Amino acid sequence: MKIEFESAPAEAGAKTAIAVLVAEKADLSGAAAALNATTSGALRRAMDGARFTGAKGQTLDVLAPHGLDAARITLVGAGTGTTLSAEAAEAAGATAYNAVKTTGLETLVLGLAGVSADTAAAAAFGIRLAAYRFDRYRTTEKAEKKPSIKKVRIETDDPKAAAKAFKRLSGLADAVIFARDLVSEPANILYPEEFARRVKALTSLGLEIEVLGEKEMKKLGMGALLGVGQGSVRDSQLVVMQWKGAKDPDAQPVAFVGKGVCFDTGGISLKPADGMEEMITDMGGAAAVTGAMYALASRKAKVNAVGILGLVENMPDGNAQRPGDVVKTMSGQTVEVINTDAEGRLVLADAIWYCQQRFKPKFLIDLATLTGAIIVALGKDLGGMFSNNDELADRLLGASKSSGDALWRMPMPPQYDKNIDSAVADMKNVGPRYGGSITAALFIQRFVKETPWAHLDIASTAWKPNSTVPTIPSGATGFGVRLLDRLVADGYED
Ligand code: BES
Ligand code: MN
Ligand code: ZN
Repeated sequence: MKIEFESAPAEAGAKTAIAVLVAEKADLSGAAAALNATTSGALRRAMDGARFTGAKGQTLDVLAPHGLDAARITLVGAGTGTTLSAEAAEAAGATAYNAVKTTGLETLVLGLAGVSADTAAAAAFGIRLAAYRFDRYRTTEKAEKKPSIKKVRIETDDPKAAAKAFKRLSGLADAVIFARDLVSEPANILYPEEFARRVKALTSLGLEIEVLGEKEMKKLGMGALLGVGQGSVRDSQLVVMQWKGAKDPDAQPVAFVGKGVCFDTGGISLKPADGMEEMITDMGGAAAVTGAMYALASRKAKVNAVGILGLVENMPDGNAQRPGDVVKTMSGQTVEVINTDAEGRLVLADAIWYCQQRFKPKFLIDLATLTGAIIVALGKDLGGMFSNNDELADRLLGASKSSGDALWRMPMPPQYDKNIDSAVADMKNVGPRYGGSITAALFIQRFVKETPWAHLDIASTAWKPNSTVPTIPSGATGFGVRLLDRLVADGYED
């Protein structure tokens, strides 16, 4: 899809939908007022006959009114307030696109005269996120079911400035989309080595990428990560991505670590069949870290950043790890594996230790689709955040508000820590049934040294089968990419 910015009122035509914003409960103004005049008041009459008030998220299609050189006008509610915020513009662009995407029309003209260049760019960003679709395995879908919009033309006062602002946002959209694709891919296609290959291709953005195989990890003593992958015919991989954008190439980096379980059957503690297919998304943390590194590199962020991915497949097998097995982590601590389905924390334990040992980061944030319990606790709209550091936690909450990737801070009560003590090893990998997300966080904390650290449990937000957010089509969300990019932009660049 092509997105262009232009200043003159665009020529429309029969294959075109025009979308304009309408402020809530106000007189029609700007582009909407002009179109209302051209169509002898058709817009006003349509609004009055449809309870359309201009409230945020509302849309109203006015089909082929007399006097109009376009197939339809879509009114998009902009809500109250005099200036359109970037968030509102993003949502409005996405809503306009969603309203017309399968109409059979080929061009969307979005009238945004009177808003700033940054706001116009935000609308274009919203459209790119809304237009995401994972359809590479659909070979028989009828053309009339597919999205038809090929081109978006955004009318704005300063097209040059808008195009410039959009360049940066477009890189961020690419990064979110890259992460969504990784999450959407089935596990027969995207296994650890293939994941690593796709990340390696990002050297073209200026990222330095290393891939460690099982032999190297064995040498490092990563018994917990390797134990998880032991039942799979696929090789486990540890991917290390580095972005060196700070003035001082040796400046302490920020670090992100992602859980990359390419498929989670549960292992010998096998999951029930119902819904197991969703476990292709169990690498959502690794996808978010990849997307965030992509975003930083694409905008040449002035920061040193490290992204580490623990990539494994959790399978039942004659060679799989058993409940009761004791594994030794890279940290030297031993773990009794009570439940092979609590595998994410085992992967993270080694990946996080490695990250601290090698990079001594300024802070470390891990992202993981870690527990079903976080969905019970927070529902599907909020990711759970656990942290040992109030400053980092507050900065994350700030970035969460402005990026739209919503987080809620969770407690880490020290008195629960004993719940993962084991009689045969230093700890066990599960605690009691209740408070499962907290136990998981406390487990990971046992592998964190002095580093300011946050753990984001994104089992709730990585995958939205029924999304109602205009910028997030149902399926993979790309949750975490925008959050981490914002966090870095707001506080950790030269
Ligand atoms: N990958 C799952 C968590 C998950 C659940 C992600 C739902 C996305 C949607 C994780 O590995 C897991 O199986 N966790 C167990 C932990 C339990 C065995 C302590 C869970 O949540 O049931
Ligand atoms: Mn599991
Ligand atoms: Zn898992």
